[in-house]
Amino acid sequence: MTDKKKPRRTARQATQRVKTAKRRKTSSTRWLQRQLNDHYVSEAQRLGYRSRAAFKILEIDEKVGLFKKGQTVIDLGAAPGGWLQVAVQKGATNVVGLDLLPIDPMPGITFFQMDFMADDAPECLVAAIGGGADVVLSDMAPNTTGHKDTDHLRIIALVEAAYYFAKDVLKPDGAFVAKVFQGGAQHELLKQMKRDFKSVKHVKPPSSRKESAEQFLVATGFKGIDEDTEDDYYEE
Ligand SMILES: C[S@@+](CC[C@H](N)C(=O)[O-])C[C@H]1O[C@@H](n2cnc3c(N)ncnc32)[C@H](O)[C@@H]1O
Repeated sequence: MTDKKKPRRTARQATQRVKTAKRRKTSSTRWLQRQLNDHYVSEAQRLGYRSRAAFKILEIDEKVGLFKKGQTVIDLGAAPGGWLQVAVQKGATNVVGLDLLPIDPMPGITFFQMDFMADDAPECLVAAIGGGADVVLSDMAPNTTGHKDTDHLRIIALVEAAYYFAKDVLKPDGAFVAKVFQGGAQHELLKQMKRDFKSVKHVKPPSSRKESAEQFLVATGFKGIDEDTEDDYYEE
């Protein structure tokens, strides 16, 4: 038998490894491994955020200055609640969230567990805010089917629905943020947004995983009055 030296532990090996459970799919094992070694996941735990997604909206806010004290904020696709926490932390006083999934109760938040595409969703949200909104956020992402075109159409449908809703409820100078995916055909939507807002940017926050095609459309300075379609204008 050869007397082999014990190999030194390299930095790569020092990261946490997840044992592959027999019934766990390789993709979920990979996800779990990535979560355990992710800086933002541990920071979210340390700072008490419900999700690593909280950092994305913090970074977007740092870049464009979304939040001000006393605002009304609507958050679409809000579970488990990281963005809701950030909105409250930034001084929003009227915060309404909606998601297909439930969230653990959060003081000072009105939450609806429902599908945003349901006919009565906009009505519920509008009744809950009791006026206009300063910021409308959407981190919604539909479940993927694996069929590229179908997935793409679903994503676009959700973003467009969020945008038309935002146009109906935003106060002049309001802001809209929505998750989109690179390579998506959002040209028409982008054209409209540029007409309706003073500034429209694509933002890829540092905390958004590089390998993910997600990015955010960030529109600020809602112009409010649309001369052709006056009902887009929210009057206080
Ligand atoms: C990335 S997560 C949101 C994370 C959240 N921003 C946070 O900070 O914790 C996306 C959410 O969108 C929700 N969603 C997807 N489609 C939806 C729909 N049609 N109506 C409501 N919520 C939806 C999902 O249930 C999921 O919880």
